[in-house]
Amino acid sequence: MRARVFPDYEAISTAAAYVVAGRLEEEPSSVLMLPTGITPLGMYRRLVEMHRSEGLSFANATFFNLDEYLGLAPDHRASYHVYMKEHFYGLIDADPARVFVPDGAAPDPEAECERYEAAIREAGGIDVCVLGIGRNGHIGFNEPGAPFDSRTRVVALSESTRKVNAADFEADRAPERAITAGMATIFDSKSVLLLASGTNKAGAVAAAVEDEVSESMPASMLRNHQSAVLFLDEAAASDLGHGVAG
Ligand code: GLP
Repeated sequence: MRARVFPDYEAISTAAAYVVAGRLEEEPSSVLMLPTGITPLGMYRRLVEMHRSEGLSFANATFFNLDEYLGLAPDHRASYHVYMKEHFYGLIDADPARVFVPDGAAPDPEAECERYEAAIREAGGIDVCVLGIGRNGHIGFNEPGAPFDSRTRVVALSESTRKVNAADFEADRAPERAITAGMATIFDSKSVLLLASGTNKAGAVAAAVEDEVSESMPASMLRNHQSAVLFLDEAAASDLGHGVAG
């Protein structure tokens, strides 16, 4: 796993957008796995700009989202369906038939998870997986302790994650469960790009990069991946010691 430190959030966002755009220019039918949260917003903004002003096309690409809250209908304003539509899928030329977000309102969530894994397999696997990181090191909604061999499944959210995400929900009550792509689902991606910005991610970043690889720090799994890179701003890199490429 390599780490690259950029001066600020805008620089990470631009660099991440270039990674995605470069991949699509090379192979327009690439399969991407994408995150939500505040961190990727700048990358999405850049990609939308590239679509509008430079003609970057997403029409042949396939998209999978990392996760969705369980129990939220796709039109719930705090759902990741709505987030993705507002910030990305609704602003580009994505083919709706090739856009997959786990259905948090599926009557049989277990079957939905299986369906999701099957769709990823059918698409030929993930080429580029873009990730954010939670303050406790979670990736997707794989909280500390998530087995490295896990697949797409229903998970319980930690209290700390629910607290961080509470503001998106009425009465500050975030859902208790989610559907997330599993650790092995993520690990099977041909390449992984993790984005982190801000001092509130510095502890998780340092633990993921420098402590032992452990299921108690989900992002540390990426150290064993042959093509994983971290794009950090200086704040997110501020707890790192020596030995990290600049
Ligand atoms: C959520 C998402 C993650 C995301 C994380 C960090 O819990 N499920 O995929 O990486 O939050 O979000 P942010 O970028 O807002 O800090």
